[in-house]
Amino acid sequence: MHNRLQQLGRTAEEKVRAAADADSLKDIRVEFLGRKGQITSILRGLKDLDPVERTAVGQASNRLKDDLEQLIEAKFQEFRDQELERRLMQEKIDVTLPGKPVLAGTRHPLHLVMEELENIFLGFGFQIVEGPEVELDYYNFEALNVPADHPARDMQDSFYITNELLLRTHTSPGQVRVMEEYCPNLPVKIIIPGKVYRRDDDATHSPMFHQIEGLYIGERVTFADLKGILMRFAQQIFGSEVKVRFRPSYFPFTEPSAEMDVSCVMCGGSGCRTCSDTGWLEILGSGMVHPNVLKSGGYDPEQVTGFAFGMGVERIAMLKYGINDLRLFFDNDLRFLSQF
Ligand code: DAH
Repeated sequence: MHNRLQQLGRTAEEKVRAAADADSLKDIRVEFLGRKGQITSILRGLKDLDPVERTAVGQASNRLKDDLEQLIEAKFQEFRDQELERRLMQEKIDVTLPGKPVLAGTRHPLHLVMEELENIFLGFGFQIVEGPEVELDYYNFEALNVPADHPARDMQDSFYITNELLLRTHTSPGQVRVMEEYCPNLPVKIIIPGKVYRRDDDATHSPMFHQIEGLYIGERVTFADLKGILMRFAQQIFGSEVKVRFRPSYFPFTEPSAEMDVSCVMCGGSGCRTCSDTGWLEILGSGMVHPNVLKSGGYDPEQVTGFAFGMGVERIAMLKYGINDLRLFFDNDLRFLSQF
């Protein structure tokens, strides 16, 4: 029995030493130490031996089992070391290669323009206030001198939430909210930037867009103030060579009303596609605040006067950067956005 164990030990050792890789080593382990392995079988057969022999053979085969386990583990480790060595030699890391750039975000062109517009009016002494995007019908229309049956409502096809509640179609409702808050203090000199919503959707209209509203109320604010401030504004945003003109217009919340045009920023006024060969581009609506609107805000139209204006931020951004499709602002295409 002793001889058989010794013989078994030698065979196992030889096989382990000769093993070519981890897989064949696994097979060898099964062959000797597995559930039906040669050493395992001897241990299982111990119960049939007489007591004296049982102890001696038991001890010897347990020792053999431990030795073989150690030998196999050492051989596994050898293979692992070889593999590591091979990879360290083969995989070369070039630490002088440039790193992967971390993409930095850019500011959205609409926000850039919005901020530029705000800064110009801050420079004129205006303050910035905001109003709610979900607005009462009262502020959006009624208080601005647009009663329920007024045809001007059709120009601003609206998203209604209930009969009294809608997504604001312009930033003008902020005028009355601000007046209510300021009254009876003077002057009121504010701008209201923000999102507005209308049922429109094509290359030049988006159901959501941005406006900046302006309101200046005081004891002697005149149409000359309106012209002066808006002209200065146009020069700051489009350059000092720009010319402006005012055309009579109609808005229910102003009287008189005017639209302001600037000389075409593409052709300088000689006529091109952008200005439809007129040489002029309309950029905002304005006028002297209607007495009924002043009353809505709590002011006495006999005591105070004011002017107001409203402009579309997208339109100004398109003119400023020469962008011909409004939808580019909202497509979230990085090739477009990262240019600003
Ligand atoms: N709210 C108008 C619109 O969205 C723009 C406007 C015109 C605003 C004249 C004004 C104004 O404050 O005086 O079309």
